[in-house]
Amino acid sequence: MPQPNAADVKSIKIVIVGAGSVGVTTAYALLLDRLAADIVLIDIDKNRAMGEVMDLSHAAHFAQARVRVGDYEDCAHAAAVIITAGVNQKPGQTRLDLVKTNYALFRDVVPRIARHAPDTILVVATNPVDVLTHAAHHLSGFPLERVIGSGTAMDTTRFRHELGKHFGVNPRNVHAMIVGEHGDSQLPVWSLATICGMRLHDYCRAARMEHDEAALEACAKRTREAAYEIIRRKGKTNYGVASVLVSILQPIVTDSDAIMTVSRVGTYAGIQDVALSMPCKLNRHGAYQDVPLLLSELEEAELRESAQSIKEVLMSLEK
Ligand SMILES: NC(=O)c1ccc[n+]([C@@H]2O[C@H](COP(=O)([O-])OP(=O)(O)OC[C@H]3O[C@@H](n4cnc5c(N)ncnc54)[C@H](O)[C@@H]3O)[C@@H](O)[C@H]2O)c1
Repeated sequence: MPQPNAADVKSIKIVIVGAGSVGVTTAYALLLDRLAADIVLIDIDKNRAMGEVMDLSHAAHFAQARVRVGDYEDCAHAAAVIITAGVNQKPGQTRLDLVKTNYALFRDVVPRIARHAPDTILVVATNPVDVLTHAAHHLSGFPLERVIGSGTAMDTTRFRHELGKHFGVNPRNVHAMIVGEHGDSQLPVWSLATICGMRLHDYCRAARMEHDEAALEACAKRTREAAYEIIRRKGKTNYGVASVLVSILQPIVTDSDAIMTVSRVGTYAGIQDVALSMPCKLNRHGAYQDVPLLLSELEEAELRESAQSIKEVLMSLEK
């Protein structure tokens, strides 16, 4: 990924709404990446936000950036506003279990951001991220390219990590994607997964490995269940998602047309007005162009099911 130079970064302001675990880890990751000059944290718990800012300021010293507590008027002229505010999954809960509480929060927060920063790009991390990306699009009135959910960018990263371990190659050399819901109905796109330009079964033949379907399915299962497993052990996930959020901001700040699986509103497998993840080009305009995939028939059907399950939650909210 291209790094912005110091001159470009001088004017970059990023606002993070929600100074909880995901929000502050993202602020720290932004500092380490030197992606912004001004990082603003907004939280309903101002005391907590101030404590985090005091701590982060001492790290900001090394990154020559400013970190401060703010309010919604500080969203003005932000390159992006990341929303991480909201309740988190408890062990055993699905992401969709959080929907009512976090939707109510979005109805309060998103119009306030939009009022002060009508030209910004919203990056949604709060779960269920696809449902809330759809809500943020409608509540802000922003064009769809300027409302981006972190979506399956996290799952794609986990999937490449799993496949990299299985094949014994660096995950960066595995081209494989998870699309659909950032949740239980997500799907791995096996038909387009490659290493060195070879489909996985061809790679196995070339590398004299067994094409072990059961082991590959286990990689997809561990990807789908990673958050449950981490939450069961430590109560939350924060480092992976923070790095993913920074990797979504990278092409926005550097205007570099990276392709990532992020969530945005559209029509998917015939289901209209729903948000889910497909590969998308990102630059300073946001997630501005879908990259259509030639899915197999089975994958297309699975994508339709994933879109339908998100749509049903959206319809239940409208009741
Ligand atoms: N998209 C992903 O890949 C991903 C990964 C991990 C967590 N998450 C989601 O991110 C969200 C936050 O998780 P967390 O672990 O940081 O939770 P957390 O409890 O540590 O932090 C949430 C923060 O939101 C704040 N908040 C609550 N209501 C607010 C409001 N109205 N305005 C401003 N701030 C408010 C709280 O005070 C708290 O500081 C959850 O919904 C979680 O499921 C998403």
